[in-house]
Amino acid sequence: MVAVPSIKLSSGHDMPQVGFGLWKVDNAVAADTVYEAIKAGYRLFDGAADYGNEVECGQGIARAIAEGLVKREELFIVSKLWNTFHDGERVEPIVRKQLADWGIDYFDLYLIHFPVALEYVDPSVRYPPGWHYEGDEIRPSKATIQETWTAMEGLVGAGLAKSIGISNFQAQLVYDLLRYAKIRPATLQIEHHPYLVQQELLNLAKREGIAVTAYSSFGPASFLEFNMQHAVKLTPLIEDDTIKSIAAKYNRDPSQVLLRWATQRGLAIIPKSTRPALIASNLASIEFDLSEEDIAKISAFDRGIRFNQPSNYFPTELLWIFG
Ligand SMILES: NC(=O)c1ccc[n+]([C@@H]2O[C@H](COP(=O)([O-])OP(=O)(O)OC[C@H]3O[C@@H](n4cnc5c(N)ncnc54)[C@H](OP(=O)(O)O)[C@@H]3O)[C@@H](O)[C@H]2O)c1
Repeated sequence: MVAVPSIKLSSGHDMPQVGFGLWKVDNAVAADTVYEAIKAGYRLFDGAADYGNEVECGQGIARAIAEGLVKREELFIVSKLWNTFHDGERVEPIVRKQLADWGIDYFDLYLIHFPVALEYVDPSVRYPPGWHYEGDEIRPSKATIQETWTAMEGLVGAGLAKSIGISNFQAQLVYDLLRYAKIRPATLQIEHHPYLVQQELLNLAKREGIAVTAYSSFGPASFLEFNMQHAVKLTPLIEDDTIKSIAAKYNRDPSQVLLRWATQRGLAIIPKSTRPALIASNLASIEFDLSEEDIAKISAFDRGIRFNQPSNYFPTELLWIFG
């Protein structure tokens, strides 16, 4: 079994440095995928209301627990608050629904998915609700991040989340949040790969004791299926000659070099795959070390290219969250 290091969070809890991402894991295979990932040695699962597969992911976990593969307390289940549930009074009820979907009674970590408050859509109308209120209308809500964060803090008091954190926040908003937070965000989850290194944001997080989790560690790979033009035009990182030559030097796969670059920079990673060989290889990326020189070579790829922003998914003149 791969020995996965932990990161000590400001909440006092330990978070595995390597976990499994659940975005775009089809409902039909989600239960088996989670079950097999537990067998392969993963303990952290990164879910979200928005992924629409929390029921099935929970079934995978229930099966692994029932078969004695793992105990609940050995798992680290992460989920996220969708944008339409930012109004203070909406937070706890939706968390209770998400917990019921998973079949568990607490999340190890619960994150604000995006710093964007949208008008409430009742789960009986549509779930997950997505970005649009109706048709192509984006309808904001009046909730501030302070209102949402205060409700997030209530989750810890109620025993529904052991740690709370944020995702897709940039530096200015993190500074603002830290002024009023009674419970500081334990983690910040961000897009991070050699084309988007985000060094200043990482410096801020380090100074403030916020652990950072990288998503979309393979860069454009995760976005090809949306036919995003800037993803399609770039050389896939796992096919890049420099990454390939570094990988050959360590007798590893290019994908493992990308993941190890992130973990050696101190980040947690949550790669997603539904292919058993890649599921195993992504976890095993923690088992070798790159030289400082090679880490620097990979960091020099930085081009500030971001894939995961709403304006890349649908035409909008209303929502520029990373502007
Ligand atoms: N907070 C947020 O807003 C946010 C946004 C995006 C993602 N996330 C989280 O981060 C997780 C990871 O990000 P992601 O899903 O965007 O992307 P990712 O893990 O960087 O990449 C997934 C893609 O790479 C392929 N892949 C996986 N391992 C590979 C390997 N070893 N070699 C070659 N190809 C490989 C997968 O294909 P196959 O599946 O076909 O194997 C899939 O197409 C998500 O699942 C989600 O939990 C969070």
